Amino acid sequence: MISIIGAGKVGSTAAFNILRLRTSDVTLIDIDGNLAKGEALDLMQAAPAVEFDGKIKGTDDFSQMEDSELVIVTAGQARQLGMSRIDLMSKNAKIVKSIVQEVVKYAPDSKLMLVTNPVDIMTYIAYKESGFQRNCVFGMGNILDTWRFRSYIAMELGVSREDVRALVIGEHGDSMVPLVEFSSVSGIPIASLLSKEQIDRVVNLTVSSGSDVIKLKGSTTYAPAAVIAIMADAIVRGRNRVMGVSTVLQGEYGFSDVSIGVPVVLGRNGVEKILELELTPKTKERLEKSVATIKEALKEMG
Ligand code: NAI
Repeated sequence: MISIIGAGKVGSTAAFNILRLRTSDVTLIDIDGNLAKGEALDLMQAAPAVEFDGKIKGTDDFSQMEDSELVIVTAGQARQLGMSRIDLMSKNAKIVKSIVQEVVKYAPDSKLMLVTNPVDIMTYIAYKESGFQRNCVFGMGNILDTWRFRSYIAMELGVSREDVRALVIGEHGDSMVPLVEFSSVSGIPIASLLSKEQIDRVVNLTVSSGSDVIKLKGSTTYAPAAVIAIMADAIVRGRNRVMGVSTVLQGEYGFSDVSIGVPVVLGRNGVEKILELELTPKTKERLEKSVATIKEALKEMG
């Protein structure tokens, strides 16, 4: 069973995607019990139309996550007018810490996926707070950036998104590092298909992709929710998929005591393996800056 903590827009839409993929039954937990129950009821009523048999439950009772193999944390606040970045981080850190305590109590053998933003910071806090092995605590961010990168490369070339493979590493935020040298279309490096101007354009669109949506509709929902379901499927079915995931580093890429997006093998044990790539000096420098941004934020929060 998968539990999703936070039955808001991202949590409930992720539940829908997980059920559609027939990955698992889902329990939606929210401090707003009516919201969780309402979303579960609505999802259950969609089942005959979209043909899934999975069970869906909504509740404000955290003990209902008992025996979950995967707990996904989508609870948190979005930035509000007048709220500083640090205020938001502190508020969400408090929420995440309280949820992690419930996870430790009721689902101590679960894998823990963080979605709440800023996700790299929340992942590190959850890792520290839970005392779980580091492979069991990870964050969703880079794979979403990667899929956005794929979409923009495909649009620029006018080809199917399916044939585009790409990779983004680093912070799930402004300092993310789209890796042009590891991106291809059916095996053809994008550098041989796109001009420098075109590459710059797709890279810039990728970096601003989240905020471009937020500027228009306030938050992002469908893309993150779809990606959460793909990650959940990789874990529950032990598919060992390779994707960029926020992961606690202990020496890999030369960094420690930080969670940041790097390519990993994602399977039944969560992060089965961290893949260390040979990076160019320029890319390494950008990753260093990305790590510094996260560490700085953690320090600011105390
Ligand atoms: P939302 O406001 O629709 O939902 C948040 C839900 O969390 C609310 O229903 C609220 O009642 C619940 N909640 C708050 N404190 C709680 C607690 N202690 N226990 C249980 N539930 C609690 O927000 P939305 O749009 O669903 O986004 C949720 C989070 O996901 C935000 O932090 C957002 O920034 C983040 N996000 C992360 C993405 C990523 O790529 N990592 C992408 C999109 C959103």
